[in-house]
Amino acid sequence: MERLYTNDLDIAYGERSIVNKLNISIPSGKITALVGANGSGKSTILKAMARIMKPKSGSVFLDGKSIHQQSTKEVAKQLAILPQNPTAPEGLTVSELVAYGRFPHQKGFGSLSKEDKEIVSWFMEVTGVIEFHDRPVDQLSGGQRQRAWIAMALAQGTDILFLDEPTTFLDMAHQLEVLKLLQKLNGEQKRTIVMVVHDLNHATRYAHHMVAIKKGQVIQSGSPEEVMTMEVLAEVFGIEADIIPDPRTGVPLCLPYELKSSSEPSRASHGTPAPEADASVSKQPIAASR
Ligand SMILES: Nc1ncnc2c1ncn2[C@@H]1O[C@H](COP(=O)(O)OP(=O)(O)O)[C@@H](O)[C@H]1O
Ligand SMILES: [Mg+2]
Repeated sequence: MERLYTNDLDIAYGERSIVNKLNISIPSGKITALVGANGSGKSTILKAMARIMKPKSGSVFLDGKSIHQQSTKEVAKQLAILPQNPTAPEGLTVSELVAYGRFPHQKGFGSLSKEDKEIVSWFMEVTGVIEFHDRPVDQLSGGQRQRAWIAMALAQGTDILFLDEPTTFLDMAHQLEVLKLLQKLNGEQKRTIVMVVHDLNHATRYAHHMVAIKKGQVIQSGSPEEVMTMEVLAEVFGIEADIIPDPRTGVPLCLPYELKSSSEPSRASHGTPAPEADASVSKQPIAASR
């Protein structure tokens, strides 16, 4: 049994149900990538699993205990999350933001210990934001800000790390830097990482395990080879893509070519008429849901 899994998780915003009876298990010590179209529920699932959103029913179990029955501080020592669009209080500096990551480890209202300060500096260093340490977060570029938030999540020093689109806003070099840093934290320290990524080729290259989500449901989960198939891409993204092996590593790479009509995804991929369930799928062109 994995350390972290969901049990029949139902999540809703008010009356609007997003996820029904979701069962996901997160492999310990591995990198998991959640993939799916915009609006498919990836961020919602991540938030519920990280305890920043309360599910309507069902539970998220961490080490055999429901996380919604544990205190914020207790959970924050084991699990950190970088949300999709985090906002910092106006004027908060980069080093102040990153220092927030140490909060769960502080006793009482004391200032940061020497060790806390070293950890804060270290993660500002590795994410390349040390040179902006005294600048307000709200005055940085999108990419600089993103890296400051990543430093904050990492400074929490948890075994489990959730990141919602950590590479969005970053240029290619900084995308690679972040992904390689995550790979290193996973490889050297066996941290469990769950990330939402849009670049499927990053997902297959850096993740050991993938979960493809559509309308709050798991369509496929498994190794990159099991998830990155033409059928799954057609079903989940409504695209027609070729899959080729990465010339360097052999992992599957995706070359998207065509949009499929979203009203009949399974007809094209399985050569059979679309079942009832698919007939109710939005008639909008797939591009509209992105
Ligand atoms: N705060 C909210 N209130 C109401 N509906 C929301 C809220 N956040 C997200 N949603 C809706 O929930 C669905 C899933 O959203 P989200 O989890 O953000 O998807 P993804 O991260 O896969 O793009 C979408 O239909 C979205 O419009
Ligand atoms: Mg999202």
